[in-house]
Amino acid sequence: MPPTWVQLTYLACAVCFILSLKGLAGPKTARAGNLLGAAAAVVAVAVPFFYLELDHVPLILVAIALGSAAGVLGAQKVQMTQMPQMVALFNGVGGGAASLVALLELHEMVPHADSAFGPGWFTFAATAFTILVGAVSFAGSVVTFAKLQELMTSRPVVFPGLPVVFGVLLLASVVLSVLTVTDPTMWIGIVLALLGLAVGVLLVLPVGGADVPIVISLLNAFTGLTVAAGGYVLGNVVLLVAGTLVGSAGTFLTLLMAGAMGRSVANILFGALKGGSTLGAGVASDRPVRSAGPEDVAILLGYAERVIIVPGYGLAVAQAQHTLRELVDVLAARGTKVDYAIHPVAGRMPGHMNVLLAEAQVPYEQLVEMDDINGEFKHTDVVLVVGANDVVNPAAKTTPGAPIYGMPILDADEAKQIVFMKRSMRPGFAGIENELLFDPKTTLLFGDAKDSLGKLLSAVKGL
Ligand code: TAP
Repeated sequence: MPPTWVQLTYLACAVCFILSLKGLAGPKTARAGNLLGAAAAVVAVAVPFFYLELDHVPLILVAIALGSAAGVLGAQKVQMTQMPQMVALFNGVGGGAASLVALLELHEMVPHADSAFGPGWFTFAATAFTILVGAVSFAGSVVTFAKLQELMTSRPVVFPGLPVVFGVLLLASVVLSVLTVTDPTMWIGIVLALLGLAVGVLLVLPVGGADVPIVISLLNAFTGLTVAAGGYVLGNVVLLVAGTLVGSAGTFLTLLMAGAMGRSVANILFGALKGGSTLGAGVASDRPVRSAGPEDVAILLGYAERVIIVPGYGLAVAQAQHTLRELVDVLAARGTKVDYAIHPVAGRMPGHMNVLLAEAQVPYEQLVEMDDINGEFKHTDVVLVVGANDVVNPAAKTTPGAPIYGMPILDADEAKQIVFMKRSMRPGFAGIENELLFDPKTTLLFGDAKDSLGKLLSAVKGL
């Protein structure tokens, strides 16, 4: 049992983790929440150096230094749009580390398995769980990283017999987990970890691009549960609490994201095995559309009473959030009522648009959630769609079989005029055509969003 001061410090860290999550729930407190969580993690990592007689301290310090350097460099270099793959990688490393620690614990536990004072069956079960699920999380996360980083195809990968192979591997994993409890050996642990790696790869391969972030969140939940089980095995309260928090937060986020995309988690994971849920072809359409220059769009906007901005992934790519905010400020100064319509999965990560627009100091009150703004579109003169596509694609309502079918969308089609700002006729993430681009009410302003918004801003100022 660790000394009282250690237990109290761990308790304080656990409370800080909970307060940190609470802080992350709102834009005003998110930064403080993040710092609080990070500070508690640093304290929790430092504590064992002060009460345990650790072996290999220099090696541990080198590992911490390497990990910290990789984390700091990675976080500084990563583009906002690459955040999901970075989360995947960090998450995978966490799962892999928990799996390795559990293997080492098993190595310590095996000689005492038959002793009356040795670890109980529940400890062996928690160890098996940590080895297996940590390995699943590691391998699955590496594949999701490769998909999002386009190191491999982001389309679902399926092959004949995949469900059978997957089923056999799962069954073998269960059998070996039971053996880890009843008749533990180091070899069983190692094979269990290898099986976990194979299950992780096969779990993620059939998942298509648009669904990958949901799987990242699911794997994140897996890692949380793994770390919690690892905390039980090691008798470490802070790991137990932190892991449980990550596990439950990841589970909620997975369900919320799946709901926002109008899909069940089972359909996301296994839809492609039944031949469903694949990305569209992703080819640019050559059908005629109506396009206009910045001056024409400026006139539309300048004389509108009600304008709604629909920001999307392209706004983040173009880094045009500051220019967009300037344009909105100029329109508001002219007496136009302007709001931003925020779709829950616009961009490439949860809250992407909120973070992007907060960076440009857009007042939080101007960001209106989908359910609150959808009734407003029919009273709106102009909807300005800036680098968004799938989140306003009516195929989500009208085309059964489309990869986004069932996803709630922003009802931009109900406005009097719609202006799309994009560079080409290429589709959005789901890879399917957007009928709204060909609507008689729609005008396209082609070009990079930052460039076009700059020209639009000058033109509106000149009205
Ligand atoms: P998308 O449907 O991906 O559309 C983005 C649009 O931005 C495209 O039409 C693209 O057209 C345009 N674009 C790209 N770069 C641009 C630039 N520099 N300037 C101007 N336009 C640019 O985005 P969305 O509407 O935000 O929808 C999000 C999609 O991602 C959904 O399918 C969602 O399911 C999926 N997804 C969401 C998440 C989360 S959690 N947010 C995570 C992963 C995937 P051009 O190429 O012609 O310019």
